[in-house]
Amino acid sequence: MLAQSLFIAFAVASGVGANWLPYQRSALSSGPPSNLAAGSFSNCTSYATVETGDTCSTLEAAADISFSDLLRWNPELDTACTILELGAAYCVGGGGDACPQLYTVASGDYCSKIESEEGLTAAQLQALNPWLDANCDLEVGEVLCVGSSPTPTTTLTMTVSTATTATTTTTSAVPTPTNIASGSWTNCTTYYEVQSGDSCTAIDEKFGIALSDFLRWNPEVSDDCSNLLLAAYCVKGSPACDEVYTVVSGDYCAKIEYNYNITDADLYALNPWLDSACDLQVGQNLCVGEIE
Ligand SMILES: *[C@@H]1O[C@H](CO)[C@@H](O)[C@H](O)[C@H]1NC(C)=O
Ligand SMILES: *[C@@H]1O[C@H](CO)[C@@H](O)[C@H](O)[C@H]1NC(C)=O
Ligand SMILES: *[C@@H]1O[C@H](CO)[C@@H](O)[C@H](O)[C@H]1NC(C)=O
Repeated sequence: MLAQSLFIAFAVASGVGANWLPYQRSALSSGPPSNLAAGSFSNCTSYATVETGDTCSTLEAAADISFSDLLRWNPELDTACTILELGAAYCVGGGGDACPQLYTVASGDYCSKIESEEGLTAAQLQALNPWLDANCDLEVGEVLCVGSSPTPTTTLTMTVSTATTATTTTTSAVPTPTNIASGSWTNCTTYYEVQSGDSCTAIDEKFGIALSDFLRWNPEVSDDCSNLLLAAYCVKGSPACDEVYTVVSGDYCAKIEYNYNITDADLYALNPWLDSACDLQVGQNLCVGEIE
């Protein structure tokens, strides 16, 4: 405790430059650096020594790793990154399989935007970045993990038939499921086999799509989604909404319209299933962008 207080005092008093110097373990040296932070993995291939001005985000950027991996390899760090010790070395590589696909948060970013850009559901983004809070608050510079390791696809347990685009220019039809629900579009790129217990909200969440798209691509489905069958439904078609917002507790239409700078008429045009009172349910995926 006392040592930590002294460290903080030193960090505040010293005004040295904030250049980041990676500690690379040389082939001849054995073991971790002598200034390894207590609790950090000692079997890594690269370490970074914290200098004045460093934050978790600067370490992530310099080492090209996600915050998830930094936290995994230095388990003593907290998710708010308040306890980086000046002068101590942290594992920034080699502690295990690293996230293969990174995204650095930029000004104006928010989770649903990143999810739609990266083709992830909210649940997938959360699973890849377990440190995210329930509001999915982001800070500029944070490095998100937006892809998983090429391990068996155990994370996706749902049955998805993807109509792969033919690479040749033959006229043979692309494979589509044989049990497409009657009325659903037959020109989609992805179909999903509805399972017992599924709801439109659950399907929309799985695929990060707006309810209005699901209803447009599957026009036989009623607005209240009460007539889903155990059949294949279109979950990726064109045109599609380019920006999806998931309703959270406390939301109401005027608030969402204000946040996305759209009018009431826009919101209804983009989400024709909304009732006249604009009642929302938590988890519903609204279209708040353009349909293209
Ligand atoms: C490094 O050590 C940690 C903690 O002891 C262990 O969980 C991890 O699997 C090790 N990583 C490698 C690549 O050996
Ligand atoms: C797919 O089919 C629907 C309904 O027939 C049509 O409105 C839509 O434009 C088609 N999309 C593409 C990309 O062809
Ligand atoms: C909101 O939308 C209006 C009309 O499309 C536009 O003129 C205005 O610049 C937008 N405001 C913001 C803050 O984006």
